[in-house]
Amino acid sequence: MLKNIDISNSMTIKLDSELPEHPGFDPEYRRAPKRELTLTDREIKLALKNALRYIPEEHHEKLAPEFLEELMTMGRIYGYRYRPEGRIKGKSIDEYKGKCVEGKAMQVMIENNLDFDIALYPYELVTYGETGQVCQNWMQYRLIKKYLEKLTNEQTLVVMSGHPVGLFKSNKKSPRVILTNGLMIGMFDNPKDWSKATAMGVSSYGQMTAGGWMYIGPQGIVHGTFNTLLNAGRLKLGVAEDGDIRGHLFVSSGLGGMSGAQAKAVEIANGVGIIAEVDKSRIKTRIEQGWVSKSTDSLQEAFELADEYIDKKEPMSIAFEGNIVDLLEYAVDNDIKIELLSDQTSCHVPYDGGYCPQGLSFEERTELLKKDKEEFKKHVDKSLIKHFKLIEKLVDKGTYFFDYGNAFMRAVFDAGAKEIAKNGKDTSEGFVFPSYVEDIMGPMLFDYGYGPFRWVCLSGNHEDLIKTDKAAMDAIDPNRRGQDRDNYVWIRDAEKNKLVVGTQARILYQDALGRRDIALKFNKMVRDGEIGPVMLGRDHHDTGGTDSPYRETSNIKDGSNITADMAVHCFAGNAARGMSLVALHNGGGVGISKAINGGFGMVLDGSKRVDEILINSIPWDAMVGVARRNWARCENSIDTASQYNKKFQGKDHITIPYVADDNLIEKTFNNFKKEI
Ligand SMILES: NC(=O)c1ccc[n+]([C@@H]2O[C@H](COP(=O)([O-])OP(=O)(O)OC[C@H]3O[C@@H](n4cnc5c(N)ncnc54)[C@H](O)[C@@H]3O)[C@@H](O)[C@H]2O)c1
Repeated sequence: MLKNIDISNSMTIKLDSELPEHPGFDPEYRRAPKRELTLTDREIKLALKNALRYIPEEHHEKLAPEFLEELMTMGRIYGYRYRPEGRIKGKSIDEYKGKCVEGKAMQVMIENNLDFDIALYPYELVTYGETGQVCQNWMQYRLIKKYLEKLTNEQTLVVMSGHPVGLFKSNKKSPRVILTNGLMIGMFDNPKDWSKATAMGVSSYGQMTAGGWMYIGPQGIVHGTFNTLLNAGRLKLGVAEDGDIRGHLFVSSGLGGMSGAQAKAVEIANGVGIIAEVDKSRIKTRIEQGWVSKSTDSLQEAFELADEYIDKKEPMSIAFEGNIVDLLEYAVDNDIKIELLSDQTSCHVPYDGGYCPQGLSFEERTELLKKDKEEFKKHVDKSLIKHFKLIEKLVDKGTYFFDYGNAFMRAVFDAGAKEIAKNGKDTSEGFVFPSYVEDIMGPMLFDYGYGPFRWVCLSGNHEDLIKTDKAAMDAIDPNRRGQDRDNYVWIRDAEKNKLVVGTQARILYQDALGRRDIALKFNKMVRDGEIGPVMLGRDHHDTGGTDSPYRETSNIKDGSNITADMAVHCFAGNAARGMSLVALHNGGGVGISKAINGGFGMVLDGSKRVDEILINSIPWDAMVGVARRNWARCENSIDTASQYNKKFQGKDHITIPYVADDNLIEKTFNNFKKEI
């Protein structure tokens, strides 16, 4: 076995030999609760040994007790000492060291994900969704940065669950970074085994754009929420094709990383929203950012205020400082009409602090979680079941409730209310309430290929963003479909709506060819020197890229919703076509073993090489999802695939399903049954 000194000498990319001073914590910022720790003594020692792999031997004696203390008090070893002091933020690309534009661009993205204004728990490297991390610990962060500084345009950096495995020779048309997060072997692919793996420092929950380095602040989800609310209004409240939800009430919960978008989206859609949030600090952040307009801890005041704006038909968003279950109970007891209702607590991890049970304040929840996990779990289950019962009562009175992709219904089922499953037994046939993908996003957006295309102006110049907004708007024909009109209005008003938090970024739902055309236009603008380099990407909540039966693929009804072939193909296809960053994760926004999701990042440097990659990869990234939906007999996808085949005759080609008549299937089956 090599000695540690020889190991150190055999690496040129490694953590510095000086031990950094512990930078301490600014009490202003939120801290993650203690995570579940179920390790045996043997595994605890392993976790310690694992973390020390990054550290030169001379510091082991000092750091071993420090890391053990972190593990026992926080449930994880974060290596706080290695966090750089002060604020991290995504700066202009020119301020980063690197040998290729992609290496510098990735650093902008990583640091934006860790910005105090953006990250949910910046000290624990959690960007959003309660547990979604950029990487597992600060040693990895430092090492990834060192690798990105050295990365050339003929190498690929390989990152496994936050751990930078190394740089390997590839070529100019290869991805510069390939990363995976939380992937598990089938028989261990469950939250229990994964929780041990992450506590031992060998697996990371990347969620979607947290560990995929493409988070752009809550703006990323505002557009999707805006679309969902408009279309929910059209579907259930009789809102006209070209109308909005003015004069209508939307109620939900959560003003966190993603859920923080709800208040903003409801105002942009001209409606009135009341959003319950148990954590006052998150309300404060959203008020300061102008993402929610008013806040109160009185339910009476919240509903009176809402009524006032409903009557005036003016937009308004109100944060209720308290528990969503209290709010719903009040609405039921006082016979208050709620038209649109959802929930965005972090129900993909209800027992890890994602869901605050009724009867506990936010602080009490954190305390109980630390002291007595089993007791905490009991509170969560009781509260979730009550939450469900209240929703049932409201739905009986005409409320339209939709699950908003946070695994709420799954959590209620797991809490013991089996009646939330359609068959009352298991979740194989879905739930009694629709998910927003089943009713809205799936048929009205994903089946056409519309999804959350986004970009970051890496120069950090706001003028670049304004120019790209204008160029993207010019590429949309608002008269083609209602969806295009919504997207046109979105981008036209984007600047006015002050959506940027963190880097100069924009989200714009587009279909496959819309994304390609905008991407090519931006690359030309970079080439012509009109703007600096741009990072393109998307989140994983899209047509392609994500297999997630409780969310993105919940409208897949041919039985393939439990497979993950599409997500893996999307990832592999993007890598083969030369996207700058390709990512594949387990868990997405719904939890370990419940989704496989892939994302990408593409750096536009103005070159012809990039034009070629865009032409090959951008339509593929969305059309793989349309092709899969079409094969699952989603009607609008069949239309989209058929039009695509016509347009690309002699080039691309999608297999389209023949649809068997239901009566024929029934008749054949009944005849067969009679015979036996
Ligand atoms: N639909 C989508 O497109 C989409 C996208 C991303 C994430 N999500 C899912 O939405 C959920 C929320 O994501 P996030 O990033 O905002 O998470 P988050 O943890 O940052 O925010 C959730 C918020 O809910 C609050 N909360 C918890 N229990 C509550 C209760 N009982 N009453 C009132 N407030 C309560 C928390 O204090 C927190 O601020 C996650 O499950 C995530 O996976 C959905």
